[in-house]
Amino acid sequence: MVAATGGAHVPARYLRPEVSADAVVNDGEAAIPIIDFERLLHPEESRDESARLHRACQEWGFFQLINHGVPDGLIQGMKANIQGFFGLPAEMKQQFAQQRGQLEGYGQLFVVSEDQKLDWADVLYLNTQPPQHRSMRFWPDKPDTFRSTLDAYSAAVKNVADRLLVIMSKNLGLQPEVIANKCVGGLQSVRMNFYPPCAHADKVVGFSPHSDADLLTLVLQVNEVQGLQVKRDDDTWVPVHPLEGAFIVNVGDILQIFTNGRYRSVEHRAVVDTERERLSVAAFHSPSIHATIGPLTELVSDQEMMMYKTVDHESFMKLFFSAKLDGKSFLQRMKL
Ligand code: OGA
Ligand code: NI
Repeated sequence: MVAATGGAHVPARYLRPEVSADAVVNDGEAAIPIIDFERLLHPEESRDESARLHRACQEWGFFQLINHGVPDGLIQGMKANIQGFFGLPAEMKQQFAQQRGQLEGYGQLFVVSEDQKLDWADVLYLNTQPPQHRSMRFWPDKPDTFRSTLDAYSAAVKNVADRLLVIMSKNLGLQPEVIANKCVGGLQSVRMNFYPPCAHADKVVGFSPHSDADLLTLVLQVNEVQGLQVKRDDDTWVPVHPLEGAFIVNVGDILQIFTNGRYRSVEHRAVVDTERERLSVAAFHSPSIHATIGPLTELVSDQEMMMYKTVDHESFMKLFFSAKLDGKSFLQRMKL
């Protein structure tokens, strides 16, 4: 994996001249909104905070969620286990390697062709919820608390995502259960990202620009090294500075489609550090495999144009995974 190369010499497949070509906004000029989950639930403060959440989903497609109620011990435990796993000797990690043509396991993301440019990252991608959806052969048994911690963490994060979707439904003027009902038996998968340092950090990209295909993603930054950047409408990149223990939440493509474009699934990328490794964990939440993906009929009145096609979930996932991660081109293909 790329971790072993150290980055003194960058192989051609990792060279990405476009990375340094784009402007990055200076610190302090712009920042994604911070939403307080306790305030969202508070009888007197929820109105204001819900309105802020609604605006964040419309304008940024991104926010930081604080006071989310996932116990700090669990957050710290998850961080320690992820660091423990990526710190294992290569041959131990290889026991959980991806199989050809499959997503789950340890390896690289979305390698679909021999000449495709590569991201400067190793990943461990696992289906986590519901539990019957798991392939335990890809779940590391080292560190020995890895499995039990991911089990508890994934359930706690799913609970936060489900509750956010209820509040978002209300904010959209829908019955609270409308989006949640689509997600009965909804799927969660988790991707742990390890970005090794690279001496030529400006020539590589940790995670290519992409939008997430799911409904809602909750990212936890595992160590103090930053690197996530969000694209603005003027094509500049805004660095995200995660607060300790906060979730970085973003709207995914399916939520943009459900809301007929009211909520935005925004492109983001991860850059790497010259000296220090960076780790993060993303939890992706999708509707059940039986749900249809299309604009919610409750939202689209006669006067409003349907912006996206309606397809079944399986076709949607096939369409997505067969395409290499490539900016917003996937969502374009769902456009009517
Ligand atoms: C992702 C992602 C960003 C990060 O996993 O989809 O965008 O900070 N991760 O690692
Ligand atoms: Ni992402």
